[in-house]
Parts: sequence; structure tokens; C-alpha cells
Amino acid sequence: MTPPPAAGGEPGSHPIDPEELVSSAVDRLETITTVAALDEAQTDLVGKRSELARAHQGLVSLEPDERPEVGRRLNEARRRIESLIGDRRRELEGGERAARLQADRLDLTEVIAPPLRGRLHIVERTRDELEDVFIGMGFAVAEGPEAETDWYNFEALHMPPAHPARGMWDTLYLDLGGPETVMLRTHTSPVQIRLMEAQGPPIYAVMPGKCYRRDTPDARHIPTFHQIEGLVVDRGISFADLAGTIETFTTAYFGPDIHSRLRPSYFPFTEPSAEYEVTCTICKGNGCRTCSHTGWIELGGCGMVDPAVFAAVGIDAEEWTGFAFGFGIDRCAQMRHEIPDMRVFFDNDVRVLRQI
Ligand code: PHE
Repeated sequence: MTPPPAAGGEPGSHPIDPEELVSSAVDRLETITTVAALDEAQTDLVGKRSELARAHQGLVSLEPDERPEVGRRLNEARRRIESLIGDRRRELEGGERAARLQADRLDLTEVIAPPLRGRLHIVERTRDELEDVFIGMGFAVAEGPEAETDWYNFEALHMPPAHPARGMWDTLYLDLGGPETVMLRTHTSPVQIRLMEAQGPPIYAVMPGKCYRRDTPDARHIPTFHQIEGLVVDRGISFADLAGTIETFTTAYFGPDIHSRLRPSYFPFTEPSAEYEVTCTICKGNGCRTCSHTGWIELGGCGMVDPAVFAAVGIDAEEWTGFAFGFGIDRCAQMRHEIPDMRVFFDNDVRVLRQI
């Protein structure tokens, strides 16, 4: 059998074997790893300037009877090379798509730490909770200014100028008006006066807010602190109503194991007056360091509204009686959450604030 005639290249060039074109195409395609490189190889292997194209052009230089056979083998070679290129293209494109998909993959099972959310400060939350308890008992909520005049902070509360009882409060005066006439309020009691002036009895209200005293911070004192004041004025209000209200509040806020007691005390604006104490939440009344082994913690003061206060705001003390109380919101939070040192509320250490 005579070997199949080889296709001619350019006239006068070496004949080209179609089988070799196929096998060198196979080698080249094996080395290719990207679609871009494949495009280049396609031009080289089957493009207009490819060896294959030149072999086709060289057909004219063959004997007429050889042309059909050589032409057929060249066409066959072209078909095989093109099909190899097609196969490789599908492989590469598939791989590139897979790589793209992999890179874009959204892992729905991934656990991402939730963003840190802020929240209300423990003292704010305590204030809200205290308000809620009193609202539940039928009280309204009122507020007054933090910068107060002498009249509201002292005088109308039965402490005339130079009265020694003013020494109970370490007052911070503001450089406003005459000397020692405007101050940062030392308690929320001035809001009692404002409320009684603004609306006559009956009054059932609590008045929360910031207070200021020239105190050195320690475990149970901070110079800027919070109080919630209470005022009830109506016909026939007695000390029993005060004691009952305080006890109802105490169990509602601190839980059934915690009780209140009132110890005789003195305030210029109440008569009689009492200190309001609750069972120590740390030791449940058994005695510990926090409560100085008494089993009780002082939260604030209270008493029956002094007739002199009613006189200052023009309420007839023969017709109306009332009680008032004022206690520390910070102190409540400290007791409720069993926090040994109150200063952590204002150190702004998020490691602490996150826990409380
Ligand atoms: N205002 C008082 C204080 O800050 C507390 C108090 C309020 C006492 C109401 C009696 C009545 O110490």
C-alpha cells in the first residue's frame, strides 16, 4: 500500500502530515490552562495563518487526482482539532465558572457575631422600672429643673435662709443671680413645691431626676445621683397610707423576700419624719458587711408633709394632709442588682455595663 500522499504547504515547502497537525494540537491543548490562552491557540491551530490553513492552500500544487484524498484528510484533521478545542473550551469555561461561583459563594450556614447593640444605662432602666411600679399604683410622673432657686430647693421646704437644716445638704451654688440664690438641686423635693403650686390637691405623683451634692465619691455616694420623689396630698391621708405605700412598692420592686421599715428621723419639710430602709438584699436580712451587720439598708427619707410647706404653697392644712418620700434610684439599682460599689455606674467601663 502506498503511503497516503502528504498535503503540500506553501508551494515548494515540505509536505504537511495531517496526523501530525492533530497530535501537535493535542500536545499544545494539554498545556493550556485559561480560556484566553485557548483563544490564542485556536488562532494558531486553525486560524487563517495556521499550518492547517497553509496546507489547504497547498492543495493546488498537488496532482489533481491526489487532491480529494489529501483534502479529505485535512478536513478530517481540522474537524478533530476543532472538536478538541471545543472540548477544552468547555472544560476551561466550566472550571472558571466553578472558580467564580466558589469565590462568590454565600455560606448561609456561617455564624456571624451579631452587631453590638447599645442599651439604656442601668440607672435609666431602674428609673423606668420604678416609674412603672408607681404608675401601677395610680401615680402620675412629673419632672422639674435641675438648676433650682433657693425658694424651691430650701425656703418653701421650710428652710429659711441661714437655717441650720440647710447644712444637711452639701450644696453646689451656680454663679447666677445674687450670691447663693441659684443652685444645682440637692434633692428632688423642690418638684413637690412646683407641683403643688401648679396644681392643687389631690396629688398622687412621683418625680424622678438628677440631684447634685458636693460629696466625695465612695461605694455608696456619688456627687451626681438620682432620686425619685413621691408626693400624695388628699383628704384624710395618714401615716399608715405612707407606710402601706412604701411596703407595697418595696415588695413590688424587690420581690416578696424584701420588706421595708421606717425609723424615726428628721426633715424640715415633713412631720413626723422617717428613714426608709429595706431588707439588705445581699444577706437577705441576716447581716453582712454591706449593711454593717444590721440586716437593713437605708434607701431614703419620708414623712407627713409639714403644715408649714402647705402654707408656703397656699394649701389649707386643715382640709388636706399628705405624705412625701424621696429615695435614691442609684441606691435601688445597687441593691436590686447586688452591686458592691456604686461608682461602677459612672466609670463607663463597658465590661461592667454590659453585665448589668
Ligand atoms: N429630700 C430628702 C433627701 O434628699 C428626702 C425626703 C424626701 C425626705 C421627701 C422626706 C420627704 O434627703
